[in-house]
Amino acid sequence: MNIDQAQLADAATISRLHGACFVRGWSERDVANFLASPGAIALIASTEKPVGFVLARLVLDEAELVSIGVCHAGRRSGVGRALVERLRSLLGERGVRVIFLEVAADNASAIALYGQVGFRSSSRRSHYYPRENAAPIDAIVMRLDLPWRAPCGS
Ligand SMILES: CC(C)(COP(=O)(O)OP(=O)(O)OC[C@H]1O[C@@H](n2cnc3c(N)ncnc32)[C@H](O)[C@@H]1OP(=O)(O)O)[C@@H](O)C(=O)NCCC(=O)NCCS
Repeated sequence: MNIDQAQLADAATISRLHGACFVRGWSERDVANFLASPGAIALIASTEKPVGFVLARLVLDEAELVSIGVCHAGRRSGVGRALVERLRSLLGERGVRVIFLEVAADNASAIALYGQVGFRSSSRRSHYYPRENAAPIDAIVMRLDLPWRAPCGS
């Protein structure tokens, strides 16, 4: 598996993967706007073709894991974990001390993945994610503290 840092030209690929993973997918323009925004970092995992992505945003020494998805056929093969681990080391090299994320309380697979990589639950937002014909679901806020390292180039 290859994991590469995405460029603006990868917006269509990420949009396609995102649409395959989420009910409300991001358009190519949404992804391009994200990639062009300050502090944006995106990784794409590929086997024979792109199978997964992770998007994050870095502000000073904090980062947010904004979105991650692996296409159905590529799941349960370690792609998600590899993406989060690569993101973690990339952010660590850039001087990030803590990574936050929000995950729906009913997303057991994502919560298990984040837990495996070292994220811990830090708070909960009630009724955060709307659900069609059902009560909104809480968001769990998770954090991962990274050991201090001088940012590369400093
Ligand atoms: C969450 C997601 C990214 C996981 O990707 P993946 O490539 O299948 O994950 P991995 O194969 O690296 O799994 C790593 C660990 O996560 C957990 N996990 C992953 N899928 C799981 C599932 N369906 N059920 C339970 N645990 C699961 C397991 O602990 C797994 O380790 P194991 O295989 O050794 O048991 C993928 O299921 C996905 O794209 N889901 C839809 C989008 C989404 O919900 N994104 C997160 C939004 S916050």
